[in-house]
Amino acid sequence: MLNLDNKEQKMSIIGDIQKPVKGHIDQFEVVFRDAIRSKVSLLDLIMRYLTRRKGKQIRPLFVFLSAELSGGVTDSSHRAAAMIELLHTATLVHDDVVDDSNERRGAFSINALWKNKIAVLAGDYLLSRGLLLAVENKEFRLLQIVSAATREMSEGELLQIEKARRLDIKEEIYYEIIRKKTAVLIAACCAAGAASAGASEEQIANMFKFGELVGMAFQVKDDLFDYHKSNLIGKPNGIDIREQKMTLPLIFTLNNVDSSTKSKIINTVKNHNKDRARVDEVIEIVHKNGGLEYAHQRMIQFASEAKTLLSQYQDSDVKNALFSLVDYVISRDK
Ligand code: IPE
Ligand code: IPE
Ligand code: MG
Ligand code: MG
Repeated sequence: MLNLDNKEQKMSIIGDIQKPVKGHIDQFEVVFRDAIRSKVSLLDLIMRYLTRRKGKQIRPLFVFLSAELSGGVTDSSHRAAAMIELLHTATLVHDDVVDDSNERRGAFSINALWKNKIAVLAGDYLLSRGLLLAVENKEFRLLQIVSAATREMSEGELLQIEKARRLDIKEEIYYEIIRKKTAVLIAACCAAGAASAGASEEQIANMFKFGELVGMAFQVKDDLFDYHKSNLIGKPNGIDIREQKMTLPLIFTLNNVDSSTKSKIINTVKNHNKDRARVDEVIEIVHKNGGLEYAHQRMIQFASEAKTLLSQYQDSDVKNALFSLVDYVISRDK
């Protein structure tokens, strides 16, 4: 019962943030659903599975609020929102193949239900639908913003494979990985939103930076979820250690524990990373040594730097909604 109340409360937080652009979000959902239909029945089945399990849709919200802040939502803003959510969904479908993860949005992932081959092709389909949406409407500015983000996301996922397994990974490299794989897309949301409303290049660059900082906070939060003791967020926990992915809580812990604890962690990550009990033990060590507090602090710092960039805009409902959305990103429970 308590849990339900909490859930309802969280729903109303997003509901309140959506208020200034609610009509646009509703319209977006219809456009998105129609955009991914296919005449190939297997593909259509997968697409319908995806639309039934929609995510938080915070990226369209960033697009619309940024557009509204920069002069007002236009048809281009709608195309930007759909393009970015298509690209985002494509990367999630691929990411679950890469991470060998069986759960997404509280349900089976596409690779869990249909296997890797089909998941890779379904992801490609979503990506191409997003790019075509821009080409069909001659949205070349949007195409440029979104394609640049796509490129950086692929680089980010590969940089992660190259570097994130190194047990001596530096915090700076971690930030570079999360900037590319996650922050750049939220930056693209805010830049595309501003561009679609006719903002100046300078304003577009400012909104890009805003989104990038929010995106950094967003991924640190996501990496913190992996250290939760129970799986409440609709994705498995402990998967980063299992995949030997070093994220901020663990990077901090490794740099701040005595040498025997450090050897123990390294041994688990290197040799026993599929052993649930050993992984849980590392999670416990991270909890005890302030790894979560440290990551939490860095997350708050990114969020507050982001908010500073909005100070040049006049106070309004939309600006307040963007502030609340930043707060939601760092306080969300899924
Ligand atoms: C998940 O993004 C991928 C990351 C960048 C961590 P979201 O948490 O926004 O995913 P959905 O769309 O709400 O499921
Ligand atoms: C972020 O990577 C997702 C993408 C950039 C596609 P993760 O692997 O950390 O994301 P989750 O936790 O699976 O959503
Ligand atoms: Mg991943
Ligand atoms: Mg993943």
